[in-house]
Amino acid sequence: RDEPLVLGIETSCDETGVGIVRGHTLLANTIASSVEEHARFGGVVPEVASRAHLEAMAPTVERALEQAGLRLSDIDAVAVTAGPGLAGALLVGVAAAKAYALGLGVPLYGVNHLAAHVAVDQLEHGALPKPCIAMLVSGGHSSLLLVPDVAREVVPLGSTVDDAAGEAFDKVARVLGLPFPGGPHIDRVAAEGSGDAIAFPRGKYDDGTLDFSFSGLKTAVARWIEARERAGETIHVPDVAASFQEAVVDVLTRKALAACREHGVSDLLIGGGVAANSRLRALAAERCEAAGVRLRVPRPGLCTDNGAMVAALGSDLVAAGVAPSPLELPADSSLPI
Ligand code: KG4
Ligand code: ZN
Repeated sequence: RDEPLVLGIETSCDETGVGIVRGHTLLANTIASSVEEHARFGGVVPEVASRAHLEAMAPTVERALEQAGLRLSDIDAVAVTAGPGLAGALLVGVAAAKAYALGLGVPLYGVNHLAAHVAVDQLEHGALPKPCIAMLVSGGHSSLLLVPDVAREVVPLGSTVDDAAGEAFDKVARVLGLPFPGGPHIDRVAAEGSGDAIAFPRGKYDDGTLDFSFSGLKTAVARWIEARERAGETIHVPDVAASFQEAVVDVLTRKALAACREHGVSDLLIGGGVAANSRLRALAAERCEAAGVRLRVPRPGLCTDNGAMVAALGSDLVAAGVAPSPLELPADSSLPI
C-alpha cells in the first residue's frame, strides 16, 4: 500500500498522545495522562503538565510503535499539535516532533488541535462528508465549525463567550463534591436523577447566534445548592447533576442543529471530551433524527485528546498535497482555526 505511515503527537493539555495511522486506518493510539497529578489541584497545572509530557514523550512513542508492530524508521511523516493549548505543553510536543522528523528525514506537519478533533472521526466512520458541521465540546473549547474540507478549510461559526462546556461540568462537579475531572462523574450520577427536576437557566438559548455561554448556568447551580444548604434541606445530588447536564446538552444540541439549518448542511459531527457524555449522545441522536441530519460521534477514546487525531489530520494534509511545516514551526497557544 502506498499511503504514508503518519505518526501524530498531541501535548496541548494533560494527555501525552501518540498515534500512528495509514490513510484512515488506525494502527496505534497510546496515551500517558498526568490527570492524576492535577486532580488534587482541581484543574490542570501547566508546569506539571509540561514536565509530565517531557517524561512521557519517548516511552509513549515507543509504545505506539510496539502496538503497531513498526519501527521508528518505518514512519513517513510526523504531525504534531501546534496549538491552541497550553504554551509549555505544546512546546514539548512540537520540539519532539521536530526531532523525530529531522532525525528520520521525513516531513513535519503542524496541525490545529480543533481540526484534529474533527479529522479523527474518519478513523472510525470513514471520509467526512463535505461539507459537515462540527461541534467540539471539551474542557478547553466549545466551538461550532463549518467544515468544507478538514485539510484545507475550517470556518468558525460560534464558540463559548465564557466557560467551555467541559469546564462547566468540572466546576459543577466540584460544587457537588465529585472528583476532577468531573464530567464522567456527573454523567454517571445523573443517570440516577431526573433531568427536569430543576429548571436551570439555558444561556444564549434564543439569542440567534451560534455562540454558547455556560458560566451563568454554573453560578445558578452553585446558588441553588447554597440556598438549599442554608435552609438546612438535603440535596438530591443525582437530580442536580441530571438537571445541570440537561441544561448543557439542550443548548448544545439546539445550537448544533441551528448551525446545520442555517448552512444547509445535513451532516453533524460531535467531538471533544464532552462528546463522551451519554445524555448528549442520546439527545443529539434523537434531535438529529427528527431534523433529518446524519450524526457522527467518534467512540469516547477518540473524542478525548489523543495522538491518533493528530495523525489522522496529518494523513489528510499529506493526501491533499498541503506543504509541510518548516522546522521553525512555532507552538502557538492561541492558534486560530
Ligand atoms: O477533549 P478533552 O479530553 O480535553 C480537552 O481538550 O479539554 O476533554 C476533557 C473534558 C473534561 O472537562 C471532562 O470533564 C469532560 O471532557 N468529559 C465529560 C465526559 N467525559 C469527559 N463531560 C461530560 N460527560 C462525560 N461523560
Ligand atoms: Zn481537545
